Amino acid sequence: MKNPFYINGPIPEPYFCDRQQETARLVDYVQNQSDVLLTSPRRMGKTQLIRHFYAQPEIAGEYHTFYVDIYASTSLSEFVMLLSKEIYSCLAPKGKQMIDLFVRVLKSLYGSFGYDPVTGIPTFDLKLGDISRPETTLEEIFRFLEDADKPCIVTIDEFQQIGNYPEKNVEALLRTYIQKMSNCRFIFAGSDRHSLENMFNSPSKPFYNSVSHMYLDRINRAVYIDFAARMFNEGGIGIPEALCGYVYDLFEGHTYYVHQTFHDLFARHQEPTAELLEDTIDHILSDREHYYMEQMSMLTLAQKETLTAVAREGDASRITSAAFIRKHSLQSASMVQNSVRFLLEKQILTYRQDKGVKIYSVADRFLRLWLVKMY
Ligand SMILES: Nc1ncnc2c1ncn2[C@@H]1O[C@H](COP(=O)(O)OP(=O)(O)O)[C@@H](O)[C@H]1O
Ligand SMILES: [Mg+2]
Repeated sequence: MKNPFYINGPIPEPYFCDRQQETARLVDYVQNQSDVLLTSPRRMGKTQLIRHFYAQPEIAGEYHTFYVDIYASTSLSEFVMLLSKEIYSCLAPKGKQMIDLFVRVLKSLYGSFGYDPVTGIPTFDLKLGDISRPETTLEEIFRFLEDADKPCIVTIDEFQQIGNYPEKNVEALLRTYIQKMSNCRFIFAGSDRHSLENMFNSPSKPFYNSVSHMYLDRINRAVYIDFAARMFNEGGIGIPEALCGYVYDLFEGHTYYVHQTFHDLFARHQEPTAELLEDTIDHILSDREHYYMEQMSMLTLAQKETLTAVAREGDASRITSAAFIRKHSLQSASMVQNSVRFLLEKQILTYRQDKGVKIYSVADRFLRLWLVKMY
């Protein structure tokens, strides 16, 4: 019996949970020529939502769809490389006409194209060092998208990363091209809400006011519970709904953590009980223990103390107050402040705003459980 809870890779339709409204909204935006900024905490389901949206018949049948994750990229050249490779690999199976156009328009990459001597099909072997004029190549890529035989949708995931490129003008450069496109819609996605909102909401920034915003929240509790119970049932395993609710609440509906837990619980192939669930979660934590210890070993004592204080609270606010510092035996407000800055930068902590108050939490919810157990 295949595990119905997918924890990576594409999720086939029957195993994809909900997101109906969000999918319909994306279809609507794109059909109405609007570009979109899609944000959410990490691992809430942005990438999966976009895959699902691309698979809808009104999208898959009408558009060329492209997706690049630029999280690991550190320069405009790398951005250009990822984008050109993605476009080529999506078009390659779609026939000769578009490939020929691609080869014709991307003149600056001339040296990276070849022909397979047997099949005569164009090949494309692009290396980072081959991109000597990233701005020219970028212009060609946009011209290609504009000339494509169908409208295009390009998703750039973890878009905030372009703010870290050494080139100064990347935002303005991209905006200039994107603004002129009539045949191509863009979805900018990412988890770093702070950087992204700064990019799209500041009047002085090139992307100001250029997109519709969409915040991806957790899946509705009742819908998720219903889905999970159905998946277990179809696999011949009865699960009490209360237990599904318990898992949802333990991770506050944060998709990846809920899903991983259900996945591992299902894999036990026994009637799920509270004890079995606890044991399953213990296994998840011990699988990650080595990695977590390594992460901890890179923190200073003050950083560790601040992190564990936040972990114990779950949601921590007013963390530099005397009360918080006393309660968790921390050293001083300035120590906490420095530690939090570092932990946010490393994305170990995250925060959200509630009525002007910053609420901090441990970004990795399994790490949070582990910290509470260990410290
Ligand atoms: N709608 C969904 N149905 C089933 N599983 C999902 C869904 N959305 C997310 N997941 C689970 O959560 C994990 C993280 O989702 P992902 O899209 O990679 O998050 P993000 O891109 O926001 O970091 C997926 O690998 C999958 O296990
Ligand atoms: Mg993602």
